[in-house]
Amino acid sequence: MTNQSHDPSTTPVTSPSPVTVLGLGAMGKALAGAFLKAGHPTTVWNRTPGKGDELVAAGATRTATAADAVRASEVVIVCLYDYDVSQAVLGPIAPELKGRALVNLTSDTPERSREAAAWAAEHGIAYLDGAILVPVTVIGTADALLFHSGPKSVYDRHASTLKALGGNTVYLGEDHGLAAVYDNALLDFFWTSMAGLVHAFALAGADGVKGADLAPYLSALLSIFPPIVESMGGEVDSGDYPGDQAPLVTEAVNVDHVIHASAHRGLDVGALGGIKAVLDRAIAKGHGADGWTATIEAVRAP
Ligand SMILES: NC(=O)c1ccc[n+]([C@@H]2O[C@H](COP(=O)([O-])OP(=O)(O)OC[C@H]3O[C@@H](n4cnc5c(N)ncnc54)[C@H](OP(=O)(O)O)[C@@H]3O)[C@@H](O)[C@H]2O)c1
Repeated sequence: MTNQSHDPSTTPVTSPSPVTVLGLGAMGKALAGAFLKAGHPTTVWNRTPGKGDELVAAGATRTATAADAVRASEVVIVCLYDYDVSQAVLGPIAPELKGRALVNLTSDTPERSREAAAWAAEHGIAYLDGAILVPVTVIGTADALLFHSGPKSVYDRHASTLKALGGNTVYLGEDHGLAAVYDNALLDFFWTSMAGLVHAFALAGADGVKGADLAPYLSALLSIFPPIVESMGGEVDSGDYPGDQAPLVTEAVNVDHVIHASAHRGLDVGALGGIKAVLDRAIAKGHGADGWTATIEAVRAP
């Protein structure tokens, strides 16, 4: 005999359970496809009818309304354009969502995620927020990175279902905003890096260098980043920014060279000018002998 209580709302779901996907844009279709492939009975809905024929051919059930789709499953995945759209879709069907697990994989800000969580709590909806860090072609593979945040009991109950979307499915913590915090931070690095790559090709290209000729050297440069990221993380946490190998005052001169060369060739220098302004502010705050991580003191709000 045991006196352990059995709470079905926290018991992990082990066999492929029914899943609903709201939104059949490029990503929503990939998510629904991964659920189908993993054996989950999958119901789909999209605002514009007629999308997802290939999913229906693969066994998905397509409904005419979001409410009908929600009624089919305990787990409801949302992947729409942004949180304005997801709230416009979810708001009217709150009664149908009550008692179910809602997992919002739409990208937006941490503030929007927390607002959505408060709304879900008001309506008795178990809510997880999430973020997808890979393109559609990677969804459902071992490499697919997805973040989740919200109540751990809800995540644990549905973890096996959520892992159908990717082998690298990470639970970050109870704060619903965390998935978007990590997502925004990684996108911050991604977009600024992408802009830097384009600018580098434009700069070399202005002197006739072909993209294909520069590309191998940019790739080689990228390979030095992992140890830089590791040590920078430690420096950010400690507030100690050793600059013995490359102090900010020296780096500022090098940034100036690239700005001058770019301006001389008529290229846009807005992003580089912004970087130089941050460097100058950090130096003015007394960090001239520190390393690049010290610029965080000029990036942060005063
Ligand atoms: N695509 C990627 O590689 C990728 C990667 C990581 C994260 N994400 C994130 O995944 C989310 C979806 O991206 P996606 O690529 O699937 O976008 P998408 O192809 O543009 O699809 C947008 C979806 O939102 C729906 N929608 C737009 N406005 C609507 C409205 N007013 N009412 C109801 N539905 C509306 C669209 O429905 P209709 O078909 O009716 O227009 C469609 O289902 C975004 O938050 C995106 O940042 C995407």
